[in-house]
Amino acid sequence: MSGSSLPSTLALSLLLVSGSLLPGPGAAQNEPRIVTSEEVIIRETSALPVTLQCNLTSSSHTLTYSYWTKNGVELTATRKNASNMEYRINKPRAEDSGEYHCVYHFVSAPKANATIEVKAAPDITGHKRSENKNEGQDAMMYCKSVGYPHPEWIWSKKENGMPMQEIVNTSGRFFIINKENYTELSIMNLQITEDPGEYECNATNSIGSASVVTILRVRSHLAPLWPFLGILAEIIILVVIIVVYEKRKRPDEVPDVFPSRLKTLLKTTNSRNNQCPLEK
Ligand SMILES: *[C@@H]1O[C@H](CO)[C@@H](O)[C@H](O)[C@H]1NC(C)=O
Ligand SMILES: *[C@@H]1O[C@H](CO)[C@@H](O)[C@H](O)[C@H]1NC(C)=O
Ligand SMILES: *[C@@H]1O[C@H](CO)[C@@H](O)[C@H](O)[C@H]1NC(C)=O
Ligand SMILES: *[C@@H]1O[C@H](CO)[C@@H](O)[C@H](O)[C@H]1NC(C)=O
Ligand SMILES: *[C@@H]1O[C@H](CO)[C@@H](O)[C@H](O)[C@H]1NC(C)=O
Ligand SMILES: *[C@@H]1O[C@H](CO)[C@@H](O)[C@H](O)[C@H]1NC(C)=O
Repeated sequence: MSGSSLPSTLALSLLLVSGSLLPGPGAAQNEPRIVTSEEVIIRETSALPVTLQCNLTSSSHTLTYSYWTKNGVELTATRKNASNMEYRINKPRAEDSGEYHCVYHFVSAPKANATIEVKAAPDITGHKRSENKNEGQDAMMYCKSVGYPHPEWIWSKKENGMPMQEIVNTSGRFFIINKENYTELSIMNLQITEDPGEYECNATNSIGSASVVTILRVRSHLAPLWPFLGILAEIIILVVIIVVYEKRKRPDEVPDVFPSRLKTLLKTTNSRNNQCPLEK
């Protein structure tokens, strides 16, 4: 009795476990199954068109419509009532890379989707060629990229054309903000001795890397005063020229006018001095 009941309960429990783990024929009908084409890597050299495919292979629900999204945004004019979907990229470029989804909507069931990754090396599509600031001011440099997966960003300062050690966030005057496809380097309280130079942002993902340079120029505090200093210098030079010119002119005039006036002046004072004590 007991010998035969133990194996049968074991078999029953095994059946229950396997039934909950493995999808039975019922589960396969309820869950939409989507077969997709493989992930794509866009390389600069291969300009061949790319076609993404999704096939809805099993669903017990009636399809209402399906469409494609890229990075979560619906692609226009892809909405159809079709279980086999195709999206064609005629001239694939780095900016076409991203996360594509085919999305299926059903009459009375939750929507379903599948992902196809389109990968490309980063391409830096925006940066400042140069940043010109005065010492004591703050500088801001940035880089924007296309390419997927989103890159890791590294900032470094170049010395003699070679990128030196990485600039890190916590080194006092340097602050870095990284977003998926954007990075920003801020330098506070610019120092004229150490800060000017070439700053490189480097974007690296699993497919490749790219880098660009921003030239930072730092001007002295006095720089805005230079035009005034120039005018001041002009005035000083002019005054010096006038003084020198006047001094050269004097030797001709002085012997005639000055001594004769001086003589008359001396005469009058002498005569007064002579008279005064007598009168008193
Ligand atoms: C999707 O179905 C079409 C037509 O049956 C077929 O040519 C294509 O290879 C299928 N794609 C995938 C990814 O299975
Ligand atoms: C989509 O096509 C299916 C199969 O042809 C059909 O049953 C369904 O009614 C269509 N849905 C819409 C919204 O037209
Ligand atoms: C795809 O499905 C997942 C899980 O159900 C959901 O989180 C995501 O938002 C869906 N994506 C799109 C583009 O519909
Ligand atoms: C750098 O530090 C600031 C705050 O000090 C923070 O907001 C930012 O996310 C940090 N950036 C990185 C790349 O760690
Ligand atoms: C950068 O990423 C954001 C969010 O991930 C996206 O909205 C934006 O379009 C992207 N920009 C570029 C140039 O790829
Ligand atoms: C970016 O940095 C990585 C890691 O340091 C390096 O291997 C790569 O050559 C750099 N890319 C460029 C374009 O300088």
